[in-house]
Amino acid sequence: MKSVGIDAIEIWTGNLELDLAETFAPAMGEDPGKYTKGLGLLRSSFPDAYEDIVTMGANAAHRLMERKGLEPDDIGRIDVATESAFDNSKPVSTYIAGCLEEVLDGDFHHANKGERKFACVAGTQSVDDAYNWIRAGRNRGRSALVVATDTALYARGDPGEATQGAGAVAMLVSEDPDLVELSAEQGYGSADETDFLKPNQQFPSVDGKRSVQVYLARMREALEDFESVAGAIHPDDFELIPFHTPFPGMVRKAALLGFRHAIRDTEIEDELAAEIGRQPRREEVESDEAYLDAIKEYTDKLKDTQAYLDWYEDTIEPTLAIAREVGNWYTGSVHVARASGLWQLAKEGHDLTGKRLLVGSYGSGAQAEIHAETIQPGWREEIEALEIESRLEDRYSLTFEEYEHVHDVHNHDKETEAEEFTTPDSEFAFDGWGRMGERKYRYVE
Ligand code: HMG
Repeated sequence: MKSVGIDAIEIWTGNLELDLAETFAPAMGEDPGKYTKGLGLLRSSFPDAYEDIVTMGANAAHRLMERKGLEPDDIGRIDVATESAFDNSKPVSTYIAGCLEEVLDGDFHHANKGERKFACVAGTQSVDDAYNWIRAGRNRGRSALVVATDTALYARGDPGEATQGAGAVAMLVSEDPDLVELSAEQGYGSADETDFLKPNQQFPSVDGKRSVQVYLARMREALEDFESVAGAIHPDDFELIPFHTPFPGMVRKAALLGFRHAIRDTEIEDELAAEIGRQPRREEVESDEAYLDAIKEYTDKLKDTQAYLDWYEDTIEPTLAIAREVGNWYTGSVHVARASGLWQLAKEGHDLTGKRLLVGSYGSGAQAEIHAETIQPGWREEIEALEIESRLEDRYSLTFEEYEHVHDVHNHDKETEAEEFTTPDSEFAFDGWGRMGERKYRYVE
């Protein structure tokens, strides 16, 4: 069977940042602890006036192609996943290909281009499409370029404003990948839900509290479906578990439920029995209500056990390091979590070749997907080439008034004269409107 997976990855953050605890919370009259401890977020990334989903996606893709020494002829498809698209017909991938053709030799005329939509899970779906295309033998030796790019902005005053972000992730999906090989096994949890949607509007309508419950319910379904094809999972099977991360506190909730599920009928449950008892079983109690109460009580105790805390510190915490600094990037978020985990473990000197990841993607509306990945020998070189730290440090830090201005500039319903806080440097920039209402771009040396 062909080995197919992610060969390389690039991350491009919006060039601005907002400090949530120091700047946003005081201006909103909130306790900074809500951000640092509750949501687990320190900063959000924002796009400067000349940045949008095209510039961020093209910049990530450009860096990736340069670093891998690729020409347009090496790419057989370009898929963009986004929920921030500005055109109902012409896909963002055509704009990104146009940008790349400005600076690379050759063109993408023989590459299949498209745009994927299913909230945040579309990034993973695009990776799947590329995987299937290669496994089907239709790629003629070429790779797929997948770009997940979003400006995750909420209406001013919406509770979601706390979890905003903006950035792009470009991934090269190839045969014999250098970073991770994807498992053929997948699990899905999918249902028609109305927790977060954008019915032809820029900013989402969100039922935040419900969205958290829907995330957990769909993720659980996906895990059970994954286990039905891949066999029961054990917490020690995976070096890292990157989840879709709208904010790290969400992952904290998902990880606890996942750990509880995975230790059932294992030696870990047995070892913990003396301390917190065994997990309640439905058949042992009279009603569903009594079962829910009992399982909640067990979970509350499990949360404070050393076994759980150690597992969380090793397997989950490293995946959250970048999300804390950038907020939610929607379609790119789970791919940022994977990169974050590998980056943290590379810094600590771990040898991860052959080790496995379990990846939990999620999109509102709603669908979760779970698959496994095997880390490849080239992983360290790939991750070290990202230079994540300097990219995050280079962002311009906004005052609250500047943040309000930036939000207005990107609000499609407002006509705000755009002030730029940074100067584009070796990157694509928005360059005004064309005669048919199309957006135009130029590369700034
Ligand atoms: P909120 O009402 O602003 O915040 O909504 P809160 O009052 O619930 O506080 C958040 C957490 O901080 C709580 O922790 C508080 O207790 C804690 P929890 O009880 O949940 O564990 N807290 C504090 N902790 C320590 N010290 C303090 C303090 N104050 C409070 N002083 C909400 C939060 C996430 C609902 C809101 O920001 C929101 O609506 N966000 C957008 C929706 C979202 O991100 N949902 C996540 C799941 S859906 C998803 O992931 C899909 C998505 O990415 C979209 C897509 O797929 O396209 C969003």
